[in-house]
Parts: sequence; C-alpha cells; structure tokens
Amino acid sequence: MLFNACDYDGEQVIATAQPEFLQPALAELQSLCSALTVVEELGPGIALCAVPAMRRLLRQAMEHPPVFVRHLAPAQAIVELRGTIEDDCARLALALATLPEFAWLGPGQYFAVQARLLPPAKQPPVRSLAYTSGQLNQKLASVISEETRAIESIRKPRIVLSIALTAERGFVGISLAEENLSSWPGGERHFARLPEQISRAELKLLEALEVFNLTLPTEGEALDLGAAPGGWTRLLLQAGLHVVAVDPAALAPALHEEARLRLEHKRCSAEVYLAEALHRSRRFAVITNDMRMDARDAARLLVRAADLLRGDGFVLSVLKLPHATKHIQPLPVLREALAILQGTYAIVKARQLFHNRQEVTVVAGSPRQSRLFAGRHRSRAEAWGAQRGLPLLTRHDSAETGSRESDR
Ligand SMILES: C[S@@+](CC[C@H](N)C(=O)[O-])C[C@H]1O[C@@H](n2cnc3c(N)ncnc32)[C@H](O)[C@@H]1O
Repeated sequence: MLFNACDYDGEQVIATAQPEFLQPALAELQSLCSALTVVEELGPGIALCAVPAMRRLLRQAMEHPPVFVRHLAPAQAIVELRGTIEDDCARLALALATLPEFAWLGPGQYFAVQARLLPPAKQPPVRSLAYTSGQLNQKLASVISEETRAIESIRKPRIVLSIALTAERGFVGISLAEENLSSWPGGERHFARLPEQISRAELKLLEALEVFNLTLPTEGEALDLGAAPGGWTRLLLQAGLHVVAVDPAALAPALHEEARLRLEHKRCSAEVYLAEALHRSRRFAVITNDMRMDARDAARLLVRAADLLRGDGFVLSVLKLPHATKHIQPLPVLREALAILQGTYAIVKARQLFHNRQEVTVVAGSPRQSRLFAGRHRSRAEAWGAQRGLPLLTRHDSAETGSRESDR
C-alpha cells in the first residue's frame, strides 16, 4: 500500500540531528519555515516534518546552513513494508516511480540510492527487516538503472533517491544532490579506519574539512591546542605543515619520529603557551583547538591566539557543550562562546557534525582581516567565506532561531 505524503497536509521532510539537539535543530528549521510542524518522531534525533514547500526548505537550508540539523531528506511518499528485500524493493521502486522528480532519471543521468535504516523510536520494533541498507541500495539502484538507463554514481550523483526505513514503513523522496545538506544518508559521514590513525578525534577534523570545504595548507606552521594523543597533529603533519602541538599530556609514540623534523610538542597548557608565544613573531597558517574545556573558556583562549594567526589563516575549533541539566543549558553556553569569538574573528560557520559528541565545530576567518577592515567587517568575512564557498554565520544564525521567515 502506498500513501502519498501529501495526505499528511503538505509536503514532508525528515530532519536528522543528534538526539540531544533535536529541539534546537527543529527551531532552526522553523526559523527558515515558520509553518514547519513535526508530524512524528521516527527515531532518536529523527523527525518527520510537514512543510508547505519541501524543495524550498531544502534550498533555504543550503543557503543558511543550520548548526544542529545534520540532514534533511525529502519524504514524498510512504510505503508499507513487508520485510523481505524482493517485496520491499518492488514497493519502494513503484513509489519512487510515481514521483514527478522520477522523470529526472533519464539515460546518462548520475544518481545514487541512499537507503538508511532508522533506529527505533522508543519501543523495540515488532519485527525487523530481513536485509541491510546496503543490500537494498544495490538492488534498488540496479532496478532503477535498468528501468531508466540512468547511471548509478555513489560518489558524485546528480540525483539522490532518499529512502528512510523503519521496521514497517519506507519514506522515499527524490532531490538533487546540490539541494542536500549532507552528501551522506542522515548526515552520517563514515570514514574507513586506517592503521596509522591515532585517535577517533581524527575523524572530527576530516569531517570538518569536508563539511566546511576547507583544505589544509601544505606549507607554513600550524598550532594544535589540546593536541594529545595527536590525531589532529598527525593530519596537520601529513598535509605538510610544521606543527606546534600544545598539550600537557603525551603524544602517541608514532609521532616521535616526526618530532625531530616538523613537530614541536609543548608539554604545557594552552594558557601558558599563548602567554609566551604572544611575545614572539611566530604566525600560524592554521590554529586548531580540540581542548576539553568549557566552550566560553576555549573561545577566550582563541581570542588571545588571534594575534598568532596569519592574515590568510583560519581557526578550526571544537566547542564543547555541557549536557542539559536543571541549571545548565547548552545553547546559551554556545551562544556566549560564539559571541566571544565574533568579537574578534569573522566567524564563518558552525556545525554540529556527525563525529561531534556534546560539541559543535566552528571555523573562523582571519582576525586581522576583520580588524583591518573594521567598518567592512562583514563584507571581508563574506569574501573570506566566498573564496571557500561558505556562507557567513550571522549572529542570530549561531545557536538558535533567527527571524528569517522567508516562508511568510
Ligand atoms: C579530546 S583530546 C584531543 C584529541 C586530539 N585532537 C587528537 O586528535 O588526538 C583533548 C585534549 O585537550 C587537552 N587539554 C585540556 N585542557 C587543556 C589546556 N588548558 N591546555 C592544553 N591542552 C588541554 C587534554 O590534555 C586532552 O589531551
């Protein structure tokens, strides 16, 4: 049985966020589209939302990327699943074929199927599906390829067929890759584990570079605050940079070989290092920070570090947030930390990444540019972001709803 998503009043999208940040994620979406309502929570951090114009919301989210929404997937039709791959593949293919966007899939068009099994909302599901998302991807892609002569391209699709599966229902939708907030189903960017990887934190840096469309410079110096055990340091070294790694804790022995060449380990706190380094003329092309400390304290330290950043450099920093308690709320802490940074840096972007835990990742532009062009702060920042294909994070975008109501 096939239900059209329009039966649920308007069009629908599936919004994904880290479970603890689902509410702020929905508030961000409501700031883009005031008419957005939550139809159902499909799983932890996964909300089926009704909107008047799904495609418009996708475009707006691309233009003003939210901090907490990891992904938005169109859900244009809902399919009742049987649990076997043959049956479900046929049903899902039929549902996709009824969508007007299916006409995009002509001969030679590159497409990808992004199927995703959603974790159960609360109750354990009545039954589970007898196939994996990978198996369904493969089968559905070959059926569609055969039918339309479109070409499956997992890496560089032009058209994305999104399939979100609970144990009973499949939500399907078609969008252009350029409309999708994340290139990965549910925004879940997985990386292959490499034997040389030092820490899980490496994945955070890799994901941040990809999401913010940044490339590490291949020469110059990098300052890595909170470096131990050395995952980020390893990636900075690998890019070709000379690295000053600051952390009282030890670095992984695998990095010792580098120590003689392009790595200086300062076994002190960032506070001590900065106090001393600010008297020198050293300038860094990149400053990274992954210190385990209050987001506002980290922001204050990064403000102090601003004079160490090269004119064309950037800061890539994690801001750790507290878990919500009766007395402490993470969002005001994030807002404060971003405001501290914005006083000095041209903050370009903040996102809660798949590899972030209770934290967000921020990329900030050069403070020198913003100071030199004080009156034109925003336009310089925009230029900096534009060079990297990034929109600017404005103050009210930062951690909560703004007043952008373009749907009104
Ligand atoms: C999450 S770990 C960093 C992981 C690292 N980015 C990696 O890729 O391996 C956080 C580190 O911050 C360090 N840290 C916490 N406070 C610090 C401070 N005030 N100054 C320097 N390092 C600090 C801790 O010692 C710890 O090693």
